[in-house]
Formats: sequence, C-alpha cells, structure tokens
Amino acid sequence: MWRTNLKILVLALVVIGFYTTVAHVIPQLQSEVPEALALGTGATPEALVAAGEKIYNGSGGCTACHGLGTRAPNLITDYKGQGAVGARCGTRKPNMNCKAYLYESLTQPQAYIVAGFDPIMPDMRKQLSDDQIWATVAFLESQGGEVDVTADDISRTAPPKTGGATSPAPAGPAMSATLDPVVLYSEKGCIGCHQLNGKGGAIGPSWDHVGSRRSAASIRKKILMPNSDTTKGYEKFAGTMPGTFGQMLSAAQLEALVTFLANKK
Ligand code: HEC
Ligand code: HEC
Repeated sequence: MWRTNLKILVLALVVIGFYTTVAHVIPQLQSEVPEALALGTGATPEALVAAGEKIYNGSGGCTACHGLGTRAPNLITDYKGQGAVGARCGTRKPNMNCKAYLYESLTQPQAYIVAGFDPIMPDMRKQLSDDQIWATVAFLESQGGEVDVTADDISRTAPPKTGGATSPAPAGPAMSATLDPVVLYSEKGCIGCHQLNGKGGAIGPSWDHVGSRRSAASIRKKILMPNSDTTKGYEKFAGTMPGTFGQMLSAAQLEALVTFLANKK
C-alpha cells in the first residue's frame, strides 16, 4: 500500500515539477498582455494605429464594404480626389474636427451620410469596445492625416470598467435583455448586412426565406461559428460575418433569434 502511495506522490511531484519548469522556461506565455489591456489609456499612438489596422482588416469587418469601390467610399485610398480618409475627415462637417467626425462615423454612422451611398453602415459599438473604436479612429487618421487620439479621449468615452486586469477583452457595450428578435437583429447589427422584408444591408443573404434553406441547428451554428458552412453564392463574402455574436447574445436571445429565423420559410 505504501508503495502505491509513494508512486502516486512521486508522480504528482514529477508532474508539478514539469509544469513549473515549463512555466519558467517560457515566461512570454505568462506575461502576454491581452489586446484590450494594450489599448488602455497609456497606449502610444503607434500602438493604437497598429491595433486599429488589425481591427480594420479583421474583426471590425470594415473591408466587407470599404475598399471594394461601390458599396462604400474608399478609406485608405483616395476617394473622388478628396484624398484618403485621414485627409478628408476634417472637411466633412463644419465645426467638426477629423477625430470627432471619425468617432461619430463609427458610433452614429447615420448622423452624416456620404453623398451617393446608402445608410447601411452598422453602429460599430455593437461589435467593438470603446478602446477598439478609438484605435480604429487612430488608424483612419494615420491614412493621410495626423494621429491625435489621446488617453483623454479613451477615458472620456469609456464605459466604467468591470473585472480585473486579467478579464478577457470586453465584447462591447452592456448586453440588453430583450428577447424580441426584431429588436435584437437591429441592436446587434445583423441588419447592417442582412435584409428582412426589403430593409437592411445587402452584404449577406436576405433572411426572407432563410428557414427554408437552413434548419434551426444550422442557423445556430452559423451565428456561433460564422466561418463555417458558407452560404452558396456568397463565397466572396465568406469571413465577413463577425465572430463575436456568441459573446454578445445571451443563450435565451440566441434561441429567440434562431427560432425567429428558422420560421422564415
Ligand atoms: C455594411 C457596410 C459597412 C461596413 C461593415 C462598414 N462601413 Fe463604413 N461606411 C459604409 C457606407 C455605405 C458609408 C458611406 C455612407 C455613410 O456615410 O454612412 C460609410 C462611411 C464610413 C466613413 C465616413 C467616410 C467619409 O468619407 O466620410 C468612415 C470613416 C467609415 N465608414 C469607417 C468604417 C470602419 C472603420 C468600419 C469598420 C470598423 C466600417 N466603416 C464598416 C458602409 C460600411
Ligand atoms: C458584417 C456583415 C454581417 C453581419 C453584421 C451579420 N452577418 Fe450573417 N452573414 C454575413 C454574410 C456575408 C453571410 C454569407 C456568407 C457566409 O455564409 O459566411 C452571412 C450568413 C448568415 C446566415 C446564413 C444565411 C443563409 O441564407 O444561409 C445566417 C443565419 C446569419 N448570417 C445570421 C446572422 C445574424 C443572426 C447576425 C446578427 C446577430 C448576422 N448574421 C450578422 C454577413 C453578416
């Protein structure tokens, strides 16, 4: 009996020793700073621009519309001789400087509609946290203009922080509790890309008959894992649907949306 106990003890020590060694050998795993932290009020302009560039090309979903020429104005290349967005942003609205205009463009996109375009741009607060929005503003400013986003901007608009330094990046604004699918699909920004009864964006498939193409299970999977199971005919837009809805919807809200969509026969 004591032999078995001893074996277990030795094994336990070996395992603990192994992981302790591993943890010390690769300290970068321990000190890795989550993206949200790096964007805190102490972030340098360079760090903001770099983070903003990643958001622009990735999780922000901006390139689903911008840079394709017709759906939305070019931002990082010239648009109609007015320059890239950093050069023209200060001239859009009288008495509104570049920074304020860009922040408004991302948080209240309907406040100013560039002539010749439809008001399809989603409110980015549904998808990005406040410091991510400021990082994106800094990146856009850097395209032909001067970066003047400061720590003050970030702390002025930031929602009160909850959780400690190691909590994961905030998924965006506080969740509302509504279970009304019609409210949910506009509140979560689906309507920026999907149409229902002729209203909404045309980036993704219309939802009018989505229930005849997909089962509830397939719709649920699509919302939670948007990169799976691309809709036929939309291969060009694969990867543009944000992958953050799993964190933005409560389980009950997810089911409300799934049931609603599955019934659109
Ligand atoms: C569903 C399509 C769509 C998505 C996604 C989208 N936009 Fe837009 N955006 C538009 C359209 C259309 C306009 C022009 C109409 C308007 O002013 O709202 C626009 C306008 C803008 C403008 C103002 C440009 C100007 O010349 O004044 C900025 C800045 C901007 N978008 C930034 C972004 C950023 C950054 C993202 C990603 C975080 C993004 N947009 C995602 C469609 C989109
Ligand atoms: C930035 C654009 C964008 C947003 C926002 C977006 N989607 Fe999508 N969605 C797409 C695109 C593009 C496709 C088709 C390509 C694919 O299958 O990946 C798609 C496909 C789907 C499909 C499959 C449709 C079919 O006919 O097969 C469902 C269901 C869906 N989205 C649900 C949602 C829900 C629910 C939301 C909001 C919580 C949402 N989407 C927000 C772009 C978007």
